[in-house]
Amino acid sequence: MDLLLTSIRRLYTINETGKECLRGADMATPSFLDDAFLYASEGKVVAIGYMQDLPDTYSHAHRIDCDGRFVLPGFIDSHTHLVYPRSRHEEFVDRIRGLSYEEIGQKGGGILNSAKHTAAMSVDDLYTGLVDRANEIMAMGTTTVEIKSGYGLTLESELNLLRAARRLQQESPIRVKTTFLGAHAIPQAYKQNRQGYLDLVCDKMLPAVAAEGLADYVDVFCDRGYFTPEDTIYLLQKAAEYGLPGKIHANELGRTGGVQAGVAAGAFSVDHLEECGEEEIEALRGTDTVPCLLPTVAFFLGIPYGPARDLIAADLPVALATDYNPGSSPGGSIPFVMSLACTQLKMLPEEALSAVTLNAAFALRESSWLGALAPGYAADFLITTPMESLAQLPYYYASNYIERVFIGGVEVLQ
Ligand code: NIG
Ligand code: FE
Repeated sequence: MDLLLTSIRRLYTINETGKECLRGADMATPSFLDDAFLYASEGKVVAIGYMQDLPDTYSHAHRIDCDGRFVLPGFIDSHTHLVYPRSRHEEFVDRIRGLSYEEIGQKGGGILNSAKHTAAMSVDDLYTGLVDRANEIMAMGTTTVEIKSGYGLTLESELNLLRAARRLQQESPIRVKTTFLGAHAIPQAYKQNRQGYLDLVCDKMLPAVAAEGLADYVDVFCDRGYFTPEDTIYLLQKAAEYGLPGKIHANELGRTGGVQAGVAAGAFSVDHLEECGEEEIEALRGTDTVPCLLPTVAFFLGIPYGPARDLIAADLPVALATDYNPGSSPGGSIPFVMSLACTQLKMLPEEALSAVTLNAAFALRESSWLGALAPGYAADFLITTPMESLAQLPYYYASNYIERVFIGGVEVLQ
């Protein structure tokens, strides 16, 4: 069905000049049209313009009057662990009582706790929780989501997590990209033999994941107490042999060289960066590796926020994501991420919007057709409640301002 949105108070087109991302100062000036229309056909944006220029050739289309409302590209959540076995609220209470996230992990909790539960679950079991969370995040405006494995840590469980994510891709309207994160933690049995586990990941899991076409990217938790920069470069080189690019976890817990390893391996993005100084920023400068910040992790764990202003000043295309997972960020709200970006990272509302649309799409290398609302882009968009300024989105940090969500020109969750 063809769609015609009319009288849009402000249409955020983001990118009318065909850039692959918005770097540095450009993040503050995503493109927009006031008092606009948008015409979509066959799932794509075909035309945009001012109401005064609306041609009558679109009169056959289903018309939605957006009077007073904003239209934004659907949000792109480029870093989540959306498929997981169960909540870890017991560890949340342990943290309130004084244990740190790292201490819980060292005691066999954390990721290993989740992996124990995954082992007992079928793809169907995993899918049930996953589809509920997918519906939850679509209602909050997410139209594309990246989903990692990493709560299996055995061949069969890692495959099952990715199979559940691929099933979501087939059965739900949300757009899905998948990432193999076998190197998320070192299982108990390999505690004294990290290389042994890395070999299992590289020589058994990776070939099986590739053979079944289960992943679009490969991730490594490169951080203090987890995997080293050498492990990371080794694994990403192996992944490249299967045509799988890297998107890695780096610098959440310490400055152990994760960002530099990601850049050296040509990773599409390095994510977290709560522990990030000048050397890391220098490594990123002038490269296409996207720094992706996850401010809900700092909010939830009480660790430092990433240096968004310094990354923007270095002319980098900063992205933002939720990291939705049961340990460090049990929430998938991009609107809340945008509020934290403004209040804690001191990003402008426009910068936050660029970071969850075009730049997030670039972190997935899908920004030629996702993350903007210019002709040729997917018709993935949100209609907000009536509002006066983009700033009201992050300002009303606990309100729901998303009225309707469309993916490929079709309304979801009606
Ligand atoms: O991105 N840091 C590594 N992985 C996840 C959290 C994993 C967990 O605690 O379950 C993250 O924060
Ligand atoms: Fe993560």
